[in-house]
Amino acid sequence: MHRNLLIFCVVVLIVGAIIALSIRSVESQSDMVQRGKYLVETVGACGHCHTPRTGADYNMDMYLAGHPANAGYPRHNFSMMQQGIFILTSPQMSAFSGAFGTSFATNLTPDKETGLGEWTEEMFIGAMRTGLHQGVEGNRPILPPMPVKHYAQMNDEDLKAIWAYLKTIKPVKNEVNPPLNPRGRPY
Ligand code: HEC
Repeated sequence: MHRNLLIFCVVVLIVGAIIALSIRSVESQSDMVQRGKYLVETVGACGHCHTPRTGADYNMDMYLAGHPANAGYPRHNFSMMQQGIFILTSPQMSAFSGAFGTSFATNLTPDKETGLGEWTEEMFIGAMRTGLHQGVEGNRPILPPMPVKHYAQMNDEDLKAIWAYLKTIKPVKNEVNPPLNPRGRPY
Protein backbone atom coordinates (compact mmCIF):
# COMPACT_ATOMS: atom_id res chain seq x y z
CA MET A 1 0.00 0.00 0.00
CA HIS A 2 2.76 2.35 1.07
CA ARG A 3 4.64 1.63 -2.14
CA ASN A 4 1.59 2.32 -4.32
CA LEU A 5 1.13 5.71 -2.66
CA LEU A 6 4.76 6.57 -3.34
CA ILE A 7 4.44 5.59 -7.01
CA PHE A 8 1.23 7.62 -7.26
CA CYS A 9 2.98 10.72 -5.82
CA VAL A 10 5.92 10.37 -8.19
CA VAL A 11 3.58 10.04 -11.19
CA VAL A 12 1.61 13.14 -10.08
CA LEU A 13 4.86 15.09 -9.74
CA ILE A 14 6.13 14.05 -13.17
CA VAL A 15 2.83 14.84 -14.91
CA GLY A 16 2.69 18.19 -13.09
CA ALA A 17 6.22 19.05 -14.19
CA ILE A 18 5.43 18.15 -17.82
CA ILE A 19 2.29 20.33 -17.79
CA ALA A 20 4.17 23.24 -16.17
CA LEU A 21 6.99 23.03 -18.73
CA SER A 22 4.63 22.90 -21.71
CA ILE A 23 2.64 25.89 -20.43
CA ARG A 24 5.91 27.79 -20.13
CA SER A 25 6.94 26.94 -23.69
CA VAL A 26 3.51 27.94 -25.06
CA GLU A 27 3.87 31.23 -23.16
CA SER A 28 7.36 31.91 -24.45
CA GLN A 29 6.23 31.09 -28.01
CA SER A 30 3.38 33.60 -27.70
CA ASP A 31 5.78 36.20 -26.17
CA MET A 32 7.97 35.71 -29.24
CA VAL A 33 5.03 36.20 -31.62
CA GLN A 34 4.03 39.36 -29.71
CA ARG A 35 7.58 40.69 -29.99
CA GLY A 36 7.60 39.88 -33.71
CA LYS A 37 4.33 41.75 -34.20
CA TYR A 38 5.78 44.73 -32.34
CA LEU A 39 8.93 44.72 -34.50
CA VAL A 40 6.97 44.36 -37.77
CA GLU A 41 4.47 47.09 -36.94
CA THR A 42 6.65 49.67 -35.20
CA VAL A 43 10.43 49.75 -35.71
CA GLY A 44 10.49 47.55 -38.83
CA ALA A 45 7.47 49.27 -40.44
CA CYS A 46 7.30 46.35 -42.89
CA GLY A 47 3.74 47.27 -43.92
CA HIS A 48 5.00 50.63 -45.18
CA CYS A 49 5.91 48.81 -48.40
CA HIS A 50 4.55 45.26 -48.04
CA THR A 51 0.91 46.24 -47.31
CA PRO A 52 -0.49 47.93 -50.43
CA ARG A 53 -2.56 51.09 -50.01
CA THR A 54 -5.96 52.11 -51.25
CA GLY A 55 -5.65 55.87 -51.36
CA ALA A 56 -3.88 57.04 -48.22
CA ASP A 57 -4.89 54.03 -46.11
CA TYR A 58 -3.48 50.56 -45.90
CA ASN A 59 -5.65 47.91 -47.56
CA MET A 60 -5.90 45.59 -44.55
CA ASP A 61 -7.42 42.77 -46.63
CA MET A 62 -3.97 42.65 -48.21
CA TYR A 63 -2.03 42.92 -44.91
CA LEU A 64 1.65 42.25 -45.77
CA ALA A 65 0.56 40.55 -49.02
CA GLY A 66 2.78 42.66 -51.31
CA HIS A 67 2.16 44.48 -54.57
CA PRO A 68 -1.30 43.45 -55.89
CA ALA A 69 -1.05 41.01 -58.79
CA ASN A 70 -3.32 42.93 -61.15
CA ALA A 71 -2.01 46.44 -60.36
CA GLY A 72 0.21 48.34 -62.77
CA TYR A 73 3.66 49.62 -61.97
CA PRO A 74 5.84 52.58 -62.98
CA ARG A 75 8.95 52.36 -65.17
CA HIS A 76 11.94 54.62 -64.58
CA ASN A 77 14.18 55.73 -67.46
CA PHE A 78 17.50 57.47 -67.77
CA SER A 79 16.11 60.87 -68.76
CA MET A 80 14.28 60.97 -65.43
CA MET A 81 17.64 60.68 -63.67
CA GLN A 82 18.76 63.85 -65.49
CA GLN A 83 15.65 65.59 -64.17
CA GLY A 84 16.59 64.52 -60.65
CA ILE A 85 13.90 61.86 -60.38
CA PHE A 86 15.51 58.98 -58.53
CA ILE A 87 12.68 56.60 -57.69
CA LEU A 88 9.07 56.18 -58.77
CA THR A 89 6.37 54.33 -56.87
CA SER A 90 2.95 52.92 -57.73
CA PRO A 91 -0.14 54.46 -56.03
CA GLN A 92 -0.20 51.47 -53.64
CA MET A 93 3.42 52.33 -52.60
CA SER A 94 4.31 48.70 -53.20
CA ALA A 95 6.12 48.77 -56.59
CA PHE A 96 9.25 50.87 -57.15
CA SER A 97 11.31 51.79 -60.19
CA GLY A 98 14.74 53.41 -60.41
CA ALA A 99 18.19 52.97 -61.95
CA PHE A 100 18.25 49.53 -60.23
CA GLY A 101 15.25 48.31 -62.24
CA THR A 102 11.73 47.71 -60.92
CA SER A 103 11.00 45.97 -57.63
CA PHE A 104 7.76 44.71 -56.12
CA ALA A 105 7.20 44.34 -52.39
CA THR A 106 6.84 40.60 -51.91
CA ASN A 107 4.03 38.64 -50.28
CA LEU A 108 5.10 38.05 -46.65
CA THR A 109 1.96 36.08 -45.69
CA PRO A 110 2.19 32.30 -45.13
CA ASP A 111 0.36 31.47 -48.40
CA LYS A 112 2.11 28.37 -49.74
CA GLU A 113 2.06 29.23 -53.45
CA THR A 114 2.49 33.00 -53.48
CA GLY A 115 3.82 33.91 -50.03
CA LEU A 116 6.46 32.67 -47.60
CA GLY A 117 4.54 29.42 -46.83
CA GLU A 118 7.30 27.22 -48.21
CA TRP A 119 10.18 29.28 -46.81
CA THR A 120 12.20 28.07 -43.84
CA GLU A 121 13.37 30.23 -40.95
CA GLU A 122 16.93 29.84 -42.33
CA MET A 123 15.90 31.27 -45.72
CA PHE A 124 14.16 34.21 -44.07
CA ILE A 125 17.02 35.06 -41.70
CA GLY A 126 19.52 34.45 -44.53
CA ALA A 127 17.71 36.90 -46.83
CA MET A 128 17.52 39.57 -44.12
CA ARG A 129 21.20 39.09 -43.17
CA THR A 130 22.89 38.74 -46.57
CA GLY A 131 20.63 40.91 -48.75
CA LEU A 132 20.59 38.07 -51.28
CA HIS A 133 17.33 36.56 -52.59
CA GLN A 134 16.27 33.77 -50.19
CA GLY A 135 19.63 34.13 -48.45
CA VAL A 136 21.38 31.92 -50.98
CA GLU A 137 24.99 32.68 -51.99
CA GLY A 138 25.13 33.47 -55.73
CA ASN A 139 21.47 34.61 -55.90
CA ARG A 140 20.54 38.11 -57.10
CA PRO A 141 20.67 40.96 -54.58
CA ILE A 142 17.40 42.02 -52.95
CA LEU A 143 16.56 45.30 -54.66
CA PRO A 144 15.88 48.74 -53.17
CA PRO A 145 14.04 50.13 -51.40
CA MET A 146 13.98 47.03 -49.10
CA PRO A 147 16.21 48.35 -46.26
CA VAL A 148 18.36 45.21 -46.00
CA LYS A 149 21.44 47.03 -44.68
CA HIS A 150 19.45 48.10 -41.63
CA TYR A 151 17.57 44.88 -40.99
CA ALA A 152 20.83 42.90 -41.36
CA GLN A 153 21.90 44.43 -38.04
CA MET A 154 18.98 42.95 -36.09
CA ASN A 155 19.95 40.16 -33.72
CA ASP A 156 18.93 36.55 -34.25
CA GLU A 157 16.29 36.70 -31.54
CA ASP A 158 14.50 39.62 -33.21
CA LEU A 159 14.64 38.05 -36.68
CA LYS A 160 13.30 34.79 -35.23
CA ALA A 161 10.50 36.70 -33.53
CA ILE A 162 9.57 38.43 -36.81
CA TRP A 163 9.54 35.06 -38.56
CA ALA A 164 7.39 33.55 -35.79
CA TYR A 165 4.89 36.41 -36.16
CA LEU A 166 4.78 36.26 -39.98
CA LYS A 167 3.82 32.58 -39.71
CA THR A 168 0.71 33.52 -37.70
CA ILE A 169 -0.79 36.14 -40.03
CA LYS A 170 -3.62 35.44 -42.47
CA PRO A 171 -2.38 33.80 -45.70
CA VAL A 172 -3.34 35.89 -48.75
CA LYS A 173 -3.10 34.52 -52.28
CA ASN A 174 -1.35 37.22 -54.29
CA GLU A 175 1.21 36.41 -56.97
CA VAL A 176 3.66 39.32 -56.91
CA ASN A 177 5.49 40.29 -60.11
CA PRO A 178 9.11 39.12 -60.21
CA PRO A 179 11.60 42.04 -60.22
CA LEU A 180 12.76 43.56 -63.51
CA ASN A 181 16.26 44.67 -64.46
CA PRO A 182 16.88 48.24 -65.76
CA ARG A 183 15.99 47.05 -69.28
CA GLY A 184 12.62 45.80 -68.09
CA ARG A 185 13.50 42.09 -68.30
CA PRO A 186 13.27 39.56 -65.47
CA TYR A 187 16.35 39.66 -63.21
C1 HEC B 1 10.88 50.70 -47.98
C2 HEC B 1 10.13 49.55 -48.44
C3 HEC B 1 10.25 48.25 -47.68
C4 HEC B 1 10.17 48.04 -46.32
C5 HEC B 1 9.98 49.07 -45.22
C6 HEC B 1 10.32 46.61 -46.13
N1 HEC B 1 10.47 45.97 -47.33
FE1 HEC B 1 10.77 43.98 -47.60
N2 HEC B 1 10.93 44.29 -49.61
C7 HEC B 1 10.70 45.48 -50.26
C8 HEC B 1 10.79 45.28 -51.70
C9 HEC B 1 10.61 46.32 -52.78
C10 HEC B 1 11.11 43.91 -51.87
C11 HEC B 1 11.34 43.17 -53.20
C12 HEC B 1 12.82 43.22 -53.51
C13 HEC B 1 13.24 42.28 -54.63
O1 HEC B 1 12.40 41.57 -55.20
O2 HEC B 1 14.43 42.28 -54.94
C14 HEC B 1 11.18 43.34 -50.54
C15 HEC B 1 11.47 41.99 -50.31
C16 HEC B 1 11.40 41.38 -49.07
C17 HEC B 1 11.62 39.97 -48.84
C18 HEC B 1 11.99 38.93 -49.90
C19 HEC B 1 13.49 38.81 -49.94
C20 HEC B 1 13.96 37.79 -50.96
O3 HEC B 1 14.77 36.96 -50.55
O4 HEC B 1 13.53 37.82 -52.11
C21 HEC B 1 11.42 39.75 -47.51
C22 HEC B 1 11.52 38.42 -46.78
C23 HEC B 1 11.10 41.02 -46.91
N3 HEC B 1 11.10 42.00 -47.87
C24 HEC B 1 10.81 41.20 -45.57
C25 HEC B 1 10.60 42.44 -44.99
C26 HEC B 1 10.39 42.63 -43.57
C27 HEC B 1 10.31 41.51 -42.55
C28 HEC B 1 10.27 43.97 -43.36
C29 HEC B 1 10.14 44.70 -42.05
C30 HEC B 1 11.08 44.33 -41.00
C31 HEC B 1 10.38 44.62 -44.67
N4 HEC B 1 10.57 43.66 -45.63
C32 HEC B 1 10.28 45.97 -44.89
C33 HEC B 1 10.46 46.70 -49.67
C34 HEC B 1 10.40 46.94 -48.31
